[in-house]
Amino acid sequence: MSEWIVEARDLRKVFPMPAGDVVALDGVSLQLSPGDYCSIQGPSGCGKSTLLHLLGCVETPSAGSLAIAGSDVAALGDRERSRIRLTRLGFVFQRFFLLPMLTAFENVELPQSEAGVVREQRRERTRELLEYVGLGARMDHRPSQLSGGEMQRVAIARALANKPSLLLADEPTGELDESTGNAIADLLDQVNADGTAMVVVTHNPTLAERAGRHLMMRNGKLEEAAR
Ligand SMILES: Nc1ncnc2c1ncn2[C@@H]1O[C@H](COP(=O)(O)OP(=O)(O)OP(=O)(O)O)[C@@H](O)[C@H]1O
Ligand SMILES: [Mg+2]
Repeated sequence: MSEWIVEARDLRKVFPMPAGDVVALDGVSLQLSPGDYCSIQGPSGCGKSTLLHLLGCVETPSAGSLAIAGSDVAALGDRERSRIRLTRLGFVFQRFFLLPMLTAFENVELPQSEAGVVREQRRERTRELLEYVGLGARMDHRPSQLSGGEMQRVAIARALANKPSLLLADEPTGELDESTGNAIADLLDQVNADGTAMVVVTHNPTLAERAGRHLMMRNGKLEEAAR
């Protein structure tokens, strides 16, 4: 078993387009240990979301190699890759992406149902998670009946539903006002302190600074940021 939760070597991602190839990632290498907290900043279009999509096993690299928790992602079949996505990885997005017809409780319960967790166990974990993110009193609200910060809390609880070893967050405070964003950043700190490795992409320098490791991306290349 590898000691790395993420081991990416020389990842490239090229999108062929009629006007010519777009090189979104141009040789990115990254190693993360369990429990690491790393932030990625960089100008719009430099490849940050593309990198998260590769790390999240939702897109495949054009070249290079990626192992998640010791499994070579390219060698896995679709089912195994889905399984890794569901049980090893958690995603948090700028626009939350909660299912509008489901309550907070049901949104957090869903990935556990998909992973085959039995009913009593998943209901207990869902209650615990919603209490953990401070929403014990909002479990039966649908997304439209929650504030932006509350929706992001539900999204974080959902991302943690199957106890991922790596949380990937793409601009998680982008839709939120400053104080709500800071509260979400506090929650992410807590998630990391409780042992989950995290990669957080953000334009928000105060969120980026909370990470133990700061990376900058420019033109599809990743570098350690000067502190
Ligand atoms: N599916 C796609 N097809 C073609 N080009 C794409 C695709 N996805 C991304 N790109 C291009 O790849 C580059 C990197 O995009 P990406 O979304 O990773 O940027 P980003 O750093 O996340 O930017 P932002 O900060 O604005 O979210 C951009 O030039 C974009 O136009
Ligand atoms: Mg992006």
